[in-house]
Amino acid sequence: MNLVVVSNRVARANSNEPMTGGLAAALLPVVENSGAIWVGSSGRLRDGAQKEPFAEIESLGAGTLAMIDLPAAHYGGYYEGFANSALWPALHSRSDLIRVTQGDYRSYREVNAFMARALLRFNKFDTGFWVQDYHFLALGAELREIGVKAPIGFFLHTPWPSHGVMEAVPHHRELIEAMLAYDLIGFQTDGDRDNFLCYVRTNLELTVHDDVVISPAGRTRAAVFPIGIDADKFAQQAAKSVTHPDVSRLRRSLNGERLAIGVDRLDYSKGLLNRVHAFDQMWTERPHLARTVSLLQIATPSRGTIEAYGQLQNEVARLVSDVNGRHGEVDWTPIRYLNKGFGQAVLAGLYRTAQVGVVTPLHDGMNLVAKEYIAAQNPADPGVLVLSKFAGAANELDAALLVNPHDIDGMARTIATALSMPLTERRMRYEAMMQKLRGHSIQQWFADFIGALRRSQADGTAPLAPDTPTLLPLRSAGSAARLH
Ligand code: F6P
Repeated sequence: MNLVVVSNRVARANSNEPMTGGLAAALLPVVENSGAIWVGSSGRLRDGAQKEPFAEIESLGAGTLAMIDLPAAHYGGYYEGFANSALWPALHSRSDLIRVTQGDYRSYREVNAFMARALLRFNKFDTGFWVQDYHFLALGAELREIGVKAPIGFFLHTPWPSHGVMEAVPHHRELIEAMLAYDLIGFQTDGDRDNFLCYVRTNLELTVHDDVVISPAGRTRAAVFPIGIDADKFAQQAAKSVTHPDVSRLRRSLNGERLAIGVDRLDYSKGLLNRVHAFDQMWTERPHLARTVSLLQIATPSRGTIEAYGQLQNEVARLVSDVNGRHGEVDWTPIRYLNKGFGQAVLAGLYRTAQVGVVTPLHDGMNLVAKEYIAAQNPADPGVLVLSKFAGAANELDAALLVNPHDIDGMARTIATALSMPLTERRMRYEAMMQKLRGHSIQQWFADFIGALRRSQADGTAPLAPDTPTLLPLRSAGSAARLH
């Protein structure tokens, strides 16, 4: 199969360049090795006079990177608007933060349709499309509408909330019906898949048979593919990166003091305020930990033009400065707070330097920082991961210290426990988690999804099971158009 992978954000090959978010970092090595074509936004915009989508094409290992200039008139409504001010908050169960207009929805659909047209140039014999994430929920339907018959899969990197939350998204029904143009929809966890299927049964009143949705558009399989990392490669990188100048400077500056690390996009789903409150409480109630452990919090600015993000940036900065003001000393800063991104190589070294990794989102699809923190540890003297039970990663990394990020006391206690954990227990937990990471690598994730996508179209032509309704069309180009 000639695979075309589509995502809003793409990564360039240089591992020293800062990368925003887990998706781009995760896809880079698999595209490089598989020979796939990876299509995404160039970050540049085109005006309406330009009818043809323009792509800048370069090679990426054995694969290809094609970057499309998206239409300027619709980009704001699509990215800051519908994708990140309606879908993102809802998918993270924050429907109170939904702020969108009709125009935003129109722009979202326009950009999905524009991307579909741009993809036609890559639609050759034996092509399969794999669409990534919530920016392109309707891309499969748009591809069908312009005649694409190829297998089309979709993977959601975020959580999928309960059907009641999804109902708060304007046009939710139309959008989720459009998703049924996909042959295969992948989720990070069983809970996400179950929530999606519950919506389909309850709101669309469709039949679901063995996780296959039977709809007027055909059959759509919903399945779980937890995304992974290349743990051994990351471990090698971490071992090498301890000599990187940024990492060496950090080590020297610690003067024997211990370090906890948090690395997040500045996003309300990441639980940054709760985390800082937990450290505040820990230093207040356990004064012996002042001066002996500090927090390095990297919070990469993200989606800054959206009000909720601007507000959060101010709130976190204010809280960090308050905590530093109260607990700091002339020669000790409790929280080193950085608003910039780092390349993967430097991050690997920073993770290895820290005795505790704090990954405490309020909600997260997977969270690859949790996996990378574990992979980066020195096997002879590993650090401890404190992980939110609301991150998808908690399903596999159950040997981490799991916390409820809403319970500030509990988090403060757990971070203190992590700091005093004996070596034998740290090693036991680390080894158990490394074994899980090796068993669910990014290569495996990729191969599992593509294998299932291939099978899903074959399934579509198989006779229906005896107890399913018979008057259902098999998938055909254009069938999804009826659902708009
Ligand atoms: O899964 C969520 C995601 O698509 C990841 O790539 C990353 O965590 C984030 O969103 C990237 O967001 P943006 O491209 O808006 O910076």
